[in-house]
Amino acid sequence: MMCAHHARLLSWILVTCCVLTGPYHCDASEKKTSCYVEDGRADCSRLRLSAIPSDLPRNITSLDVSHNILRGITPPSLSPYPGLLHLDAGYNSITKVDAGLCQTLPLLQTLNLEHNQVHLLKTGDMSHCTRLTSLDLASNRLKLQGEPFSSLQNLTFLDVSKNKLQSPKLGSQPQLPSLVNFSLAFNEFTTLKKDDFSFLDHSSSLQVLNLSSVPLKTLEPGCFQAISGLRTLIMDGGNLGTLMVSKLCSELSGTAIDALSLRKMNLVMVTNKTFTGLQKTNLTFLDLSSNAMGQIEEGSFQWLSNLQTLNLSHNNIKHLTNRTFQGLSRLKKLALTEALVKGRTSSPVIDDFAFQPLGMLESLMLQRTAIREIGEHTFAGLKSLKKLDISWINCPSLRNITNKTLASLADSPVRWLNLINTNIAQINPGSFSALRNLTVLLLDYNHIKQTLTGREFEGLDQVQEIHMSNNFQSIDLSSSSFVNVPNLRVLTLGRSLKALALNLDHSPFKPLTNLSVLDLSNNNVANIKDNLLEGLANLKVLKLQHNNLARLWKSANLGGPVLFLKDAQRLESLQMDYNGLDEIPLKALKGLTHLRELSLSNNLINSLKDSVFDDLKSLQVLRFEKNSITSVRPEVFRTPMSNLTQLIMGRNPFDCTCESILWFVTWLNTTNTTSVPNVRDEYVCNTPRAYFNHSIMDFDPLSCKDMTPFQTLYIVSSTAVIMLIVTALTVRFHGWRIHFYWNIMINRTLGFSDAKVDEGREYEYDAYVIRAEEDSSWVERRLVPLENEKCQFCLEDRDSVAGMSQVESIVTNMKKSRKIMFVVTESLLKDPWCRRFKVYHALQQVIEESRDSVILVFLQDVHDHKLFHSLFLRRGMLRPRCILDWPVHKERIAAFHQKLLIALGLTNRLKD
Ligand SMILES: *[C@@H]1O[C@H](CO)[C@@H](O)[C@H](O)[C@H]1NC(C)=O
Ligand SMILES: *[C@@H]1O[C@H](CO)[C@@H](O)[C@H](O)[C@H]1NC(C)=O
Ligand SMILES: *[C@@H]1O[C@H](CO)[C@@H](O)[C@H](O)[C@H]1NC(C)=O
Ligand SMILES: *[C@@H]1O[C@H](CO)[C@@H](O)[C@H](O)[C@H]1NC(C)=O
Ligand SMILES: *[C@@H]1O[C@H](CO)[C@@H](O)[C@H](O)[C@H]1NC(C)=O
Ligand SMILES: *[C@@H]1O[C@H](CO)[C@@H](O)[C@H](O)[C@H]1NC(C)=O
Ligand SMILES: *[C@@H]1O[C@H](CO)[C@@H](O)[C@H](O)[C@H]1NC(C)=O
Ligand SMILES: *[C@@H]1O[C@H](CO)[C@@H](O)[C@H](O)[C@H]1NC(C)=O
Repeated sequence: MMCAHHARLLSWILVTCCVLTGPYHCDASEKKTSCYVEDGRADCSRLRLSAIPSDLPRNITSLDVSHNILRGITPPSLSPYPGLLHLDAGYNSITKVDAGLCQTLPLLQTLNLEHNQVHLLKTGDMSHCTRLTSLDLASNRLKLQGEPFSSLQNLTFLDVSKNKLQSPKLGSQPQLPSLVNFSLAFNEFTTLKKDDFSFLDHSSSLQVLNLSSVPLKTLEPGCFQAISGLRTLIMDGGNLGTLMVSKLCSELSGTAIDALSLRKMNLVMVTNKTFTGLQKTNLTFLDLSSNAMGQIEEGSFQWLSNLQTLNLSHNNIKHLTNRTFQGLSRLKKLALTEALVKGRTSSPVIDDFAFQPLGMLESLMLQRTAIREIGEHTFAGLKSLKKLDISWINCPSLRNITNKTLASLADSPVRWLNLINTNIAQINPGSFSALRNLTVLLLDYNHIKQTLTGREFEGLDQVQEIHMSNNFQSIDLSSSSFVNVPNLRVLTLGRSLKALALNLDHSPFKPLTNLSVLDLSNNNVANIKDNLLEGLANLKVLKLQHNNLARLWKSANLGGPVLFLKDAQRLESLQMDYNGLDEIPLKALKGLTHLRELSLSNNLINSLKDSVFDDLKSLQVLRFEKNSITSVRPEVFRTPMSNLTQLIMGRNPFDCTCESILWFVTWLNTTNTTSVPNVRDEYVCNTPRAYFNHSIMDFDPLSCKDMTPFQTLYIVSSTAVIMLIVTALTVRFHGWRIHFYWNIMINRTLGFSDAKVDEGREYEYDAYVIRAEEDSSWVERRLVPLENEKCQFCLEDRDSVAGMSQVESIVTNMKKSRKIMFVVTESLLKDPWCRRFKVYHALQQVIEESRDSVILVFLQDVHDHKLFHSLFLRRGMLRPRCILDWPVHKERIAAFHQKLLIALGLTNRLKD
């Protein structure tokens, strides 16, 4: 027991320490200090290891010891791991491959030794590596002796790049029968001899040969003969020049070459003979980018009838004529990104019908290419064009687009047109009417400055996306702006609209029944009508961030809050960040049961009405950072947070009290499905003082639990105080009564008398009458006549016991009387005899015998206070029936008598 308790205490202290010292001391440190093992893979990289660790699980299949300071990988050091399939020892200082390596690791498939110091590689060194499929020896200092690779029957990948090899010849006998991918890049040989690749004579699977940045000067005829099955040849960065490229192409003639990459080859000019050699190939891919190419002779590509992709990007081409692309009848993709560049003196020209030969072209990229003018026939003949990118160009033809500008595309089934950043200022009616199949139109980053009447988009009944963001907030809308694009699904107008563009009685978006994404962000819009989204039953994404919509949601807004989301019930994503919002009307988000993402960050929202988010049952992402939220209460957030995957609510002035934050902190501590980035750093308490600037994660939920005893204590103590007050007041105002009954009770309990016995005793008189001298006439007249055999009063004057002193007589008579009747008048209160003796004795007797036997008959109205002072009696001390008032009205005297008899006949017991 004790031990368990101590252990718990210790762990509690540890946890507390961790909380106090911050996350960094507790979390696994970011810098790895030992190997990381998972699923049979051991990652021992970047640990400054000088030897392979020997304490890893024996059954690992993959070991990464890269980026260390190993000098070798000796068989003994690897013997604990005979099951290794993959060994990465790159970036070390290994100088040789041990002959026994593959004996120790008989299953090894992948060996990476890139960036080491491997020098001599001899015939037997890899003789047992028959299962090896991948060998990376890039960036070493290889010097081959004999046939080191001859036993690698199953090797498919071999990289010996960056080894300063003086020859590509890795052996003299045919070997590497399974080789697929072979890299010789960045080596120093300058000649490809006829028999250099003869060692690959039987490598029928070879597909890729990388000769990048090899400074070839001589290609002996037939140098590629041994590897004629090659499909891909990469020569990037070789700076071969036009003549050598021509020679290369001749050597490739008759091979299976399919893709040829000739980037950065210093191919400044292409003639109609350069690619002649490729005529006898089925080349489909040719990359000629970044060659500083200035001139392409007409007919240069006539040999490449199978070519499907041609990349001419990043060159300096001056002129494209109607014969430049002659013969490329199967071309599908042509990239001319920045291919034509405006010079200081000259400006490049694209002739009319330049693309005419490209009848099968589907994609044309002209981004950032200098086009002097788009003429009537510029794009003529592109019968298959689907995708056209002429973005980021400064072509005067586009400044004021008319129905003629793009007329040359009338025969092209263009679906995607990119006109981003092309300096468009005005779009005239029917500008895109030639593009009947257009589905995507990109017009962002232009200077369009006009009111869209709707005619601009005439003929675009197929269009699904129009992107018009970033148009300098100079576009105005009308209610007919989008009548011609009924199939629109995406419309972006961010940073494009004039501030009053949406203040229309009839919403411009009403015809867009299929619209699913609407971006109206960054427009400074302050006025919209509640019918803005009318008819948009399919709207899923609405972006309204960076506007000025605060007034619309104020309860004080004239006419009430503008509930413009009421028509967009299928909304899945709503972004209203940066709007100055300080209120969310109770019904603003009503019915948005499909909403998955809600962004309200950077507003001024402080308090939220209880059920404002109650319909957001599908919410997955909630962004609420940088508002004025102080409390996160379950009444508001329980529903929207129930399915959340991400919550971003940092940088709010949280109030870290039990009422405001307990639920949230508990939620944060228990949620395992929601990611809350930076929960430690950005969720900081603002109040109360004790928690100021602390992470809300420091808030101790237990402090709220401890409230229970405090509450009990509070209740107990306040009850005690109240009872004390009540008691004090009772004692102050009813002390006499308490005293009275107390005495009676004490007497009875201690048995000074036995009322039961007394009860049965025969009294001589029914009542002993105490009265003042002055009231004797009233007694004579009113009481005495009532006497008969059943009712006998004791009057002191009349019935005093003979031979006794007056005092003795009084005492005796009182004892003989069942009741004591006071005839109360002012005189009685003043009568010293009565006050000093009779009353005292009467009460004494009442208390001693615990008889409730006093009757007060009031002839005058006497104040209770006076009564108490003189007779030590109060009305409240007696039962109501024992208090009688002498009636003013004569007719009530009979009733008085009746009451008096009832009072006399009452039992003397306190309880009935
Ligand atoms: C390796 O062995 C350990 C026990 O030594 C076992 O827990 C683990 O599952 C094994 N891993 C694999 C990939 O076989
Ligand atoms: C080469 O791999 C195949 C399976 O791809 C295997 O059947 C064969 O045994 C391997 N050859 C050697 C020498 O390991
Ligand atoms: C190549 O161009 C030259 C003129 O520059 C011309 O005489 C020759 O016929 C052309 N050859 C082919 C095959 O087009
Ligand atoms: C080119 O392809 C055709 C048919 O696809 C084939 O008959 C011909 O042999 C191929 N040419 C070369 C050089 O591979
Ligand atoms: C190319 O244009 C020239 C005039 O610039 C014209 O004479 C010639 O017929 C055109 N050739 C083709 C194939 O369109
Ligand atoms: C654009 O052209 C139309 C006529 O085609 C003309 O009315 C309009 O003023 C022009 N706009 C600009 C900005 O040049
Ligand atoms: C272009 O618009 C003008 C009127 O602005 C019209 O006369 C002409 O027929 C239109 N041309 C085409 C090809 O639609
Ligand atoms: C548009 O595409 C349809 C097929 O989707 C095709 O029949 C029609 O010819 C195309 N229009 C143009 C102008 O190419």
